[in-house]
Amino acid sequence: MQHIHIYSDASAVERAAAHMFVEHARDAVEARGVFTVALAGGSTPRRLYALLADEGDSFRQQVAWDRIQFFWGDERHVPPDHADSNYRMADEAMLSRVPVPPENIHRMKGENPDAQQAADEYVEELRECFGGGGVKLPRLDFVLLGMGPDGHTASLFPGSAALHEQEKWVVANWVEKFRTDRITMTAPLLNNAACVVFLVQGEEKAEPLQEVLYGARNAELYPSQLIQPLQGECHWLVDRPAAKLLPASE
Ligand code: 6PG
Repeated sequence: MQHIHIYSDASAVERAAAHMFVEHARDAVEARGVFTVALAGGSTPRRLYALLADEGDSFRQQVAWDRIQFFWGDERHVPPDHADSNYRMADEAMLSRVPVPPENIHRMKGENPDAQQAADEYVEELRECFGGGGVKLPRLDFVLLGMGPDGHTASLFPGSAALHEQEKWVVANWVEKFRTDRITMTAPLLNNAACVVFLVQGEEKAEPLQEVLYGARNAELYPSQLIQPLQGECHWLVDRPAAKLLPASE
Protein backbone atom coordinates (compact mmCIF):
# COMPACT_ATOMS: atom_id res chain seq x y z
CA MET A 1 0.00 0.00 0.00
CA GLN A 2 1.49 3.30 -1.12
CA HIS A 3 0.51 6.21 1.12
CA ILE A 4 0.81 9.47 -0.77
CA HIS A 5 1.10 12.73 1.15
CA ILE A 6 1.20 16.01 -0.74
CA TYR A 7 2.58 19.16 0.88
CA SER A 8 2.60 22.78 -0.20
CA ASP A 9 6.37 23.06 -0.46
CA ALA A 10 9.71 21.48 0.32
CA SER A 11 9.83 22.83 3.85
CA ALA A 12 6.51 21.18 4.69
CA VAL A 13 7.78 17.90 3.25
CA GLU A 14 10.88 18.08 5.41
CA ARG A 15 8.95 18.82 8.59
CA ALA A 16 6.55 15.97 7.91
CA ALA A 17 9.46 13.62 7.32
CA ALA A 18 11.13 14.81 10.52
CA HIS A 19 7.95 14.08 12.47
CA MET A 20 7.79 10.57 10.97
CA PHE A 21 11.46 9.96 11.80
CA VAL A 22 11.00 11.07 15.42
CA GLU A 23 7.82 9.02 15.88
CA HIS A 24 9.27 5.84 14.40
CA ALA A 25 12.48 6.29 16.37
CA ARG A 26 10.53 6.69 19.62
CA ASP A 27 8.38 3.63 18.93
CA ALA A 28 11.33 1.43 17.92
CA VAL A 29 13.47 2.43 20.90
CA GLU A 30 10.54 1.89 23.29
CA ALA A 31 9.88 -1.52 21.77
CA ARG A 32 13.41 -2.84 21.21
CA GLY A 33 15.90 -0.30 22.48
CA VAL A 34 17.23 0.41 19.00
CA PHE A 35 16.18 2.21 15.79
CA THR A 36 17.75 1.09 12.53
CA VAL A 37 17.71 3.62 9.69
CA ALA A 38 18.93 3.60 6.10
CA LEU A 39 19.65 7.12 4.88
CA ALA A 40 19.09 8.36 1.35
CA GLY A 41 21.68 10.23 -0.64
CA GLY A 42 21.39 12.88 -3.28
CA SER A 43 20.49 16.45 -2.33
CA THR A 44 16.84 16.40 -1.24
CA PRO A 45 17.42 14.77 2.16
CA ARG A 46 20.16 17.23 3.20
CA ARG A 47 17.66 19.74 4.56
CA LEU A 48 15.79 17.02 6.45
CA TYR A 49 19.03 15.86 8.07
CA ALA A 50 19.91 19.44 9.02
CA LEU A 51 16.41 19.95 10.47
CA LEU A 52 16.72 16.85 12.64
CA ALA A 53 20.07 18.05 13.97
CA ASP A 54 19.10 21.69 14.52
CA GLU A 55 19.61 22.80 18.11
CA GLY A 56 16.91 25.39 17.67
CA ASP A 57 14.23 22.92 16.63
CA SER A 58 12.22 20.49 18.70
CA PHE A 59 13.06 17.40 16.68
CA ARG A 60 16.61 17.00 17.94
CA GLN A 61 15.65 16.76 21.59
CA GLN A 62 13.09 14.06 20.85
CA VAL A 63 15.58 11.64 19.37
CA ALA A 64 17.56 9.08 21.37
CA TRP A 65 20.58 9.52 19.09
CA ASP A 66 22.67 6.94 20.96
CA ARG A 67 20.08 4.24 20.18
CA ILE A 68 20.13 4.72 16.42
CA GLN A 69 22.08 2.53 14.04
CA PHE A 70 22.67 4.45 10.80
CA PHE A 71 23.07 2.73 7.45
CA TRP A 72 22.90 3.98 3.86
CA GLY A 73 20.62 2.79 1.08
CA ASP A 74 23.37 3.42 -1.42
CA GLU A 75 26.75 5.06 -1.90
CA ARG A 76 28.78 6.37 -4.74
CA HIS A 77 32.09 4.70 -5.61
CA VAL A 78 34.10 7.46 -3.99
CA PRO A 79 35.97 8.09 -0.71
CA PRO A 80 33.99 9.39 2.29
CA ASP A 81 35.45 12.89 1.94
CA HIS A 82 34.48 13.19 -1.73
CA ALA A 83 31.93 15.85 -2.69
CA ASP A 84 29.68 13.13 -4.17
CA SER A 85 29.73 10.92 -1.07
CA ASN A 86 26.32 10.25 0.45
CA TYR A 87 28.08 9.57 3.74
CA ARG A 88 29.76 12.98 3.62
CA MET A 89 26.47 14.73 2.91
CA ALA A 90 24.73 13.09 5.89
CA ASP A 91 27.76 13.59 8.13
CA GLU A 92 28.00 17.31 7.34
CA ALA A 93 24.25 17.93 7.62
CA MET A 94 23.50 15.78 10.66
CA LEU A 95 25.80 13.08 12.00
CA SER A 96 28.70 15.38 12.93
CA ARG A 97 26.21 17.59 14.83
CA VAL A 98 24.40 15.00 17.00
CA PRO A 99 25.58 12.58 19.74
CA VAL A 100 25.59 9.37 17.72
CA PRO A 101 28.35 6.97 18.83
CA PRO A 102 30.81 6.47 15.92
CA GLU A 103 30.30 2.69 16.11
CA ASN A 104 26.63 3.25 15.25
CA ILE A 105 27.49 4.80 11.89
CA HIS A 106 27.79 2.12 9.23
CA ARG A 107 28.92 3.66 5.99
CA MET A 108 29.42 1.78 2.74
CA LYS A 109 33.14 1.86 1.97
CA GLY A 110 32.99 3.62 -1.38
CA GLU A 111 36.74 4.12 -1.32
CA ASN A 112 37.33 0.41 -1.96
CA PRO A 113 38.53 0.07 -5.56
CA ASP A 114 36.55 -3.17 -5.70
CA ALA A 115 32.93 -2.05 -5.38
CA GLN A 116 31.59 -5.58 -5.12
CA GLN A 117 33.99 -6.30 -2.26
CA ALA A 118 32.68 -3.17 -0.53
CA ALA A 119 29.13 -4.44 -1.07
CA ASP A 120 30.00 -7.88 0.30
CA GLU A 121 31.65 -6.33 3.35
CA TYR A 122 28.53 -4.24 3.92
CA VAL A 123 26.42 -7.37 3.89
CA GLU A 124 28.58 -8.76 6.68
CA GLU A 125 28.26 -5.54 8.64
CA LEU A 126 24.48 -5.71 8.28
CA ARG A 127 24.50 -9.37 9.30
CA GLU A 128 26.48 -8.56 12.43
CA CYS A 129 24.23 -5.63 13.36
CA PHE A 130 21.05 -7.64 12.84
CA GLY A 131 21.92 -10.65 14.94
CA GLY A 132 24.76 -12.52 13.33
CA GLY A 133 24.87 -15.74 11.31
CA GLY A 134 21.24 -16.70 11.74
CA VAL A 135 19.69 -13.58 10.28
CA LYS A 136 17.81 -14.39 7.07
CA LEU A 137 17.01 -10.87 5.92
CA PRO A 138 17.52 -7.73 8.04
CA ARG A 139 14.38 -5.71 8.73
CA LEU A 140 15.29 -2.05 8.83
CA ASP A 141 12.95 0.08 10.91
CA PHE A 142 13.06 3.11 8.63
CA VAL A 143 14.34 3.58 5.09
CA LEU A 144 14.59 7.01 3.52
CA LEU A 145 14.65 7.04 -0.27
CA GLY A 146 14.67 9.62 -3.02
CA MET A 147 13.58 9.24 -6.62
CA GLY A 148 15.58 10.52 -9.55
CA PRO A 149 14.08 12.21 -12.64
CA ASP A 150 14.59 8.86 -14.39
CA GLY A 151 12.59 7.01 -11.76
CA HIS A 152 15.60 5.42 -10.06
CA THR A 153 15.85 5.02 -6.32
CA ALA A 154 18.87 4.25 -4.18
CA SER A 155 21.28 3.21 -6.93
CA LEU A 156 18.74 1.02 -8.68
CA PHE A 157 18.90 2.69 -12.08
CA PRO A 158 16.84 1.90 -15.19
CA GLY A 159 18.27 -1.02 -17.13
CA SER A 160 20.90 -1.83 -14.50
CA ALA A 161 21.71 -5.34 -13.35
CA ALA A 162 20.84 -4.77 -9.68
CA LEU A 163 17.15 -4.43 -10.57
CA HIS A 164 17.00 -8.20 -10.94
CA GLU A 165 18.86 -9.16 -7.77
CA GLN A 166 16.61 -11.33 -5.68
CA GLU A 167 19.07 -12.85 -3.20
CA LYS A 168 21.87 -10.49 -2.22
CA TRP A 169 21.13 -7.68 0.21
CA VAL A 170 23.71 -5.23 -1.20
CA VAL A 171 25.47 -5.23 -4.56
CA ALA A 172 27.80 -3.19 -6.70
CA ASN A 173 25.83 -1.88 -9.66
CA TRP A 174 27.37 -0.53 -12.87
CA VAL A 175 25.49 2.62 -13.95
CA GLU A 176 26.13 3.14 -17.65
CA LYS A 177 24.91 6.73 -17.82
CA PHE A 178 27.44 7.76 -15.22
CA ARG A 179 30.04 5.23 -16.36
CA THR A 180 30.64 4.21 -12.78
CA ASP A 181 29.84 1.59 -10.17
CA ARG A 182 27.52 2.36 -7.31
CA ILE A 183 26.94 0.34 -4.12
CA THR A 184 23.27 -0.21 -3.37
CA MET A 185 20.83 -2.04 -1.19
CA THR A 186 18.62 -4.26 -3.32
CA ALA A 187 14.84 -4.49 -3.61
CA PRO A 188 14.58 -7.60 -1.39
CA LEU A 189 16.34 -5.83 1.48
CA LEU A 190 14.55 -2.51 1.01
CA ASN A 191 11.19 -4.26 0.75
CA ASN A 192 11.74 -5.98 4.08
CA ALA A 193 11.77 -2.64 5.89
CA ALA A 194 9.07 -1.77 8.40
CA CYS A 195 8.68 1.72 6.94
CA VAL A 196 9.91 3.22 3.67
CA VAL A 197 9.63 6.99 3.14
CA PHE A 198 10.25 8.55 -0.26
CA LEU A 199 11.03 12.26 -0.38
CA VAL A 200 10.15 13.70 -3.79
CA GLN A 201 10.35 17.40 -4.58
CA GLY A 202 10.30 19.58 -7.67
CA GLU A 203 8.55 19.76 -10.99
CA GLU A 204 11.19 17.64 -12.73
CA LYS A 205 9.94 14.66 -10.73
CA ALA A 206 6.28 15.09 -11.72
CA GLU A 207 6.33 12.87 -14.82
CA PRO A 208 8.35 9.99 -13.37
CA LEU A 209 6.32 10.15 -10.15
CA GLN A 210 3.08 9.81 -12.09
CA GLU A 211 4.54 6.89 -14.04
CA VAL A 212 5.90 5.16 -10.94
CA LEU A 213 2.68 5.45 -8.97
CA TYR A 214 0.02 5.24 -11.70
CA GLY A 215 1.72 4.12 -14.89
CA ALA A 216 1.99 0.63 -16.30
CA ARG A 217 4.22 -1.64 -14.28
CA ASN A 218 7.66 -1.34 -15.81
CA ALA A 219 10.31 -1.53 -13.14
CA GLU A 220 13.05 -1.83 -15.75
CA LEU A 221 12.23 1.71 -16.81
CA TYR A 222 10.95 3.01 -13.46
CA PRO A 223 12.90 1.15 -10.75
CA SER A 224 11.13 2.96 -7.90
CA GLN A 225 8.19 0.67 -8.74
CA LEU A 226 10.23 -2.18 -7.24
CA ILE A 227 9.80 -0.69 -3.76
CA GLN A 228 6.67 -2.23 -2.30
CA PRO A 229 7.37 -3.32 1.30
CA LEU A 230 6.01 -6.80 1.88
CA GLN A 231 5.02 -6.25 5.50
CA GLY A 232 5.64 -2.59 6.00
CA GLU A 233 4.48 0.91 5.21
CA CYS A 234 5.47 2.90 2.14
CA HIS A 235 4.96 6.64 2.29
CA TRP A 236 5.55 9.17 -0.48
CA LEU A 237 6.11 12.67 0.86
CA VAL A 238 5.72 14.92 -2.15
CA ASP A 239 5.62 18.65 -2.68
CA ARG A 240 2.98 20.24 -4.90
CA PRO A 241 5.20 20.79 -7.96
CA ALA A 242 6.19 17.12 -8.00
CA ALA A 243 2.56 16.10 -7.47
CA LYS A 244 1.12 18.16 -10.31
CA LEU A 245 0.35 15.16 -12.54
CA LEU A 246 -1.14 13.01 -9.80
CA PRO A 247 -4.91 12.47 -9.65
CA ALA A 248 -6.64 15.40 -7.99
CA SER A 249 -7.91 13.16 -5.22
CA GLU A 250 -4.41 12.88 -3.75
C1 6PG B 1 21.96 8.96 -4.73
C2 6PG B 1 20.64 8.70 -4.11
C3 6PG B 1 19.60 8.70 -5.18
C4 6PG B 1 18.74 9.90 -4.93
C5 6PG B 1 18.00 10.27 -6.16
C6 6PG B 1 17.17 11.52 -5.95
O1 6PG B 1 22.93 8.33 -4.36
O2 6PG B 1 21.99 9.87 -5.57
O3 6PG B 1 20.57 7.68 -3.29
O4 6PG B 1 18.81 7.57 -5.26
O5 6PG B 1 17.84 9.62 -3.87
O6 6PG B 1 18.95 10.51 -7.18
O7 6PG B 1 18.05 12.54 -5.57
P1 6PG B 1 17.42 13.97 -5.18
O8 6PG B 1 16.39 13.67 -4.16
O9 6PG B 1 18.56 14.74 -4.63
O10 6PG B 1 16.84 14.52 -6.44
